[in-house]
Amino acid sequence: MSHRYHNPVAIRFGAGAIGELPEILGKRRAMLVTFPEAEGLGLVAKLRAILGGSLAGVIDRIEPNPDVSYLASMYESFWREHADVEAIVAVGGGSAIDTAKALMVGTTTGRFDDLVALLATGKPFVPARIKSLIAVPTTAGTGSEVTPWATIWDKAAGRKHSLHLPQTWPEAAVVDPDLMLTLPNSVTVQSGLDALSHALESIWNVNANPISDTYAIAAAREVMATLPRLLREPGSRELRSRMALAALKAGMAFSNTKTALAHSISYEMTLRFGLPHGIACSFTLPMVLERAAGTDPGRDAVLAAIFDGDLATAPRRLAAFLEEVGVKTDFSAYGVTEDDSRRMIANALDGVRGKNFIGARA
Ligand SMILES: [Fe+2]
Repeated sequence: MSHRYHNPVAIRFGAGAIGELPEILGKRRAMLVTFPEAEGLGLVAKLRAILGGSLAGVIDRIEPNPDVSYLASMYESFWREHADVEAIVAVGGGSAIDTAKALMVGTTTGRFDDLVALLATGKPFVPARIKSLIAVPTTAGTGSEVTPWATIWDKAAGRKHSLHLPQTWPEAAVVDPDLMLTLPNSVTVQSGLDALSHALESIWNVNANPISDTYAIAAAREVMATLPRLLREPGSRELRSRMALAALKAGMAFSNTKTALAHSISYEMTLRFGLPHGIACSFTLPMVLERAAGTDPGRDAVLAAIFDGDLATAPRRLAAFLEEVGVKTDFSAYGVTEDDSRRMIANALDGVRGKNFIGARA
């Protein structure tokens, strides 16, 4: 069978690209969905100035790891009060963009419970109503701006839902590295490692193909070369631009493969230990790489291309890189016992994302 690659998102990349939002929106009115600190950072004022009369309102009460507990009232008032709004402009990290993806899918009743019930079936459905999404990432990592998926958490029930419909691809992604200039190093690390994880997970993946591989190799190499320097020079526009491009490429790679074992493990680490996503999905990468190596000569060659052709030392190099940016690579560092980690890995291999993993099962 032929290799297939599909990504319908119109991408604008470059410093100052945010100024092109009016051209993208045309005559449409838009709701701004962003993170609470955006106001204090002057970002909301900047967007008000750019969007002018097109801006219908601002939703900024989003939290990390969007949860059904607060999404319900946000969703219902959005659909009740803004029926005339045609587009959502999501400005922020993965949580803002994922929240916008939940908001863009309208149920017949406008009730959020109905959306959760549809998600709980795990089957695709055709939304009764839909808004267009323009995603503007302010971190370099999530990739959510070029994928159709969102993770909706139900922390009280100890589980998560995956939103994934043909209708939830963003219409456009506006990647403006200048928006990332003031990110604190903690966020730069977490998002950068999320991007590295997306790149690697798209390679040790049953859905990998030569087109996703091309993006993934470039992304992984660039993250590893750039992130330590960027942490020393967080105000560098050149390095911010390189990281933004690397994260975008990682997003393009996994937009067609989905993630695999490291992300599957991460969900339990986030639910049980509150570990931020970018750390939870990256601290296991050397272990997962070790399991992936030797499974398939074609996959080995792609992985080796990231590590200058030397796959034998790659897990050690990857662990050293993670340690260099301040991330411990042992489960024990996060309070997980050896037995618990074995059980967690076995569970993760059986998870939806774990089943994408090519490597050893035991
Ligand atoms: Fe991720």
